[in-house]
Amino acid sequence: MSSSLMRVNNLKKSFGGVKAVDIDNLIFNKNELTSIIGPNGAGKTTLFDLISGFQEEDSGEIFYQEKNITKSQPHKIARLGMVRTFQLTKVFDRMTVLENLMFAGSNISNDSLFQSIIQFPKQKNYENSLEEEALRVMKDLNIEQMSNAYARELSGGQKKLLELGRSIIRKPDVLLLDEPLAGVNPKLTEEILEIIEKLSNDGITILMVEHNIEAVMKISERVIVLAEGSLIADGLPQEVRENKKVIEAYLGGGDE
Ligand SMILES: Nc1ncnc2c1ncn2[C@@H]1O[C@H](COP(=O)(O)OP(=O)(O)OP(=O)(O)O)[C@@H](O)[C@H]1O
Ligand SMILES: [Mg+2]
Repeated sequence: MSSSLMRVNNLKKSFGGVKAVDIDNLIFNKNELTSIIGPNGAGKTTLFDLISGFQEEDSGEIFYQEKNITKSQPHKIARLGMVRTFQLTKVFDRMTVLENLMFAGSNISNDSLFQSIIQFPKQKNYENSLEEEALRVMKDLNIEQMSNAYARELSGGQKKLLELGRSIIRKPDVLLLDEPLAGVNPKLTEEILEIIEKLSNDGITILMVEHNIEAVMKISERVIVLAEGSLIADGLPQEVRENKKVIEAYLGGGDE
């Protein structure tokens, strides 16, 4: 049985006149692989932004493990074990794959970067263990051969994989994935799906926003549908697929 991990109450966020998110009640369960779908502009990314602290809500509350995280900053939320990826990846083009992973794992904020450079000798052991972690992540993602490639040399799909790696190295309890399959070729899509399923089997709670409906239906235990900021369906993949409101939302609006 699943148990409650996070809940949002009366969560609202508008941009100008546009209601981006307007959700009364939503509970996410521990270790349930949950996908969030909906047409373009439905509010999926904004919901992730609010949960992970990258945007401030107009009103409402968010609880994670019974802790009120509504006004918490992104780094604080990440430290609680909730880590996200971005729809447009945040990999550093001028760093190698290895460096990207080590930087993501380092927890070094820009403020303390200078400090860590001054203390360089002391940092050596830390750096070695960080490198070991990065190698482990690359192995899990099957990208060891790309270790010394610059991120700018990677394909779109490989960047998505690296973005996933940058979040995994932080050892999350909850992983928010914003379109991990966008622009990814079919073969790599299969690989990424297997990785996501493995992460879920290893006990990480996965919340995934994705437009690839086949992939969503294949791996999700639960599917949530947003349209114009509101929740219009929530259930097993098959139930949601047959839901009239969902079919209408996809046929009626959006630019897909
Ligand atoms: N920073 C912003 N400023 C102004 N409007 C925004 C901002 N972010 C989102 N919006 C608007 O809020 C609504 C929801 O956007 P959001 O990006 O959350 O949708 P989405 O479901 O993630 O869409 P997509 O599937 O295209 O990624 C849209 O109408 C969008 O234009
Ligand atoms: Mg989005």
